[in-house]
Amino acid sequence: MKNAAVIGAGTIGLSWTALFAHHGLTVRVTDPRPDLAEAVEEALAQFAPHLGTTAEELASRVQIAADVTEAVRNADVVQENGPENVEFKKDLFKQLVEEAPEHALLLSSSSAIPSTAFTGGIDGSRVLIGHPFNPPHLIPLVEVVPGDRTSEESVQKAVDFYTFLGRTPVVERKEIPGFVGNRLQNALSREAIYLVEQGVVTPEDLDKVITSSLGIRWATVGPFLGSHLGGGPGGYRHLAEHIGKSMKKMWAGLGNPSQSPEEQERLIEAVEKAYGSSTYSELAETRDRKQLAVLNALEEN
Ligand SMILES: NC(=O)c1ccc[n+]([C@@H]2O[C@H](COP(=O)([O-])OP(=O)(O)OC[C@H]3O[C@@H](n4cnc5c(N)ncnc54)[C@H](O)[C@@H]3O)[C@@H](O)[C@H]2O)c1
Repeated sequence: MKNAAVIGAGTIGLSWTALFAHHGLTVRVTDPRPDLAEAVEEALAQFAPHLGTTAEELASRVQIAADVTEAVRNADVVQENGPENVEFKKDLFKQLVEEAPEHALLLSSSSAIPSTAFTGGIDGSRVLIGHPFNPPHLIPLVEVVPGDRTSEESVQKAVDFYTFLGRTPVVERKEIPGFVGNRLQNALSREAIYLVEQGVVTPEDLDKVITSSLGIRWATVGPFLGSHLGGGPGGYRHLAEHIGKSMKKMWAGLGNPSQSPEEQERLIEAVEKAYGSSTYSELAETRDRKQLAVLNALEEN
């Protein structure tokens, strides 16, 4: 993989661009946004220190393409990061199959739409999901999800590509909306919204509950190993037979937030009140600095 095309340069596409360039790929980026060149320049300046490089080094491998046709002309791999909309992805992937070189791998960053939903009527053998977590130049996971039409060779190529980029690809063998990561995230978000709606906790305190407990644990062990250890020397079996019973009783009462327009507005205002005094850049920079520190600590241990 020498030449990459990035289609859609918003939050995710800009981060992929920096990561691809950092690993020596030539990157052609396209997006109809009128400020594309400035957005790319700003993103490279912001992300270069995270990657231990300079904005100039990254920029030397990044080109702005006028449109999709130009972006994919010589591409070995295409990463799509446009709107999360099945009609958009249907049209775009039809064009990609027609215009990208025959060997090019065609990946979508979609958060929730399985590729089978947008490859009907086209040759989908090279199309699959490569779903990152924001920002992909820092967070290692990429969910690799083949669709009904994806070839096994393309799955292996995607795994090799993301491994080459220093990511942690996980292949998911059955398509399900939201894949695994976002289903887990949304199960937690649903309960978080419910608890705030019910007046149990404020958004700020709920975030504190997570960052000072589960967040730290989950950076080191997942829910299953965490439970295995939670059972003490008796392991997961002991936990399931002991505390597991009262945990299961709780399942029936887990929250279903109303999220009426009024409740939603109340929640948005509460989150804005908690965090609105800082700018997006300040908050994102703090998050990225801390995430980088966690990643470095994990690498050393
Ligand atoms: N934001 C996240 O946390 C996150 C995480 C993982 C995956 N994703 C997925 O990545 C994709 C992009 O999400 P995002 O958060 O970067 O969105 P975003 O709104 O920040 O960026 C989308 C970009 O697509 C561009 N666009 C619109 N029409 C286009 C076209 N015809 N051709 C090319 N570009 C076009 C827009 O101008 C915009 O810059 C979505 O599919 C989303 O589900 C998002």
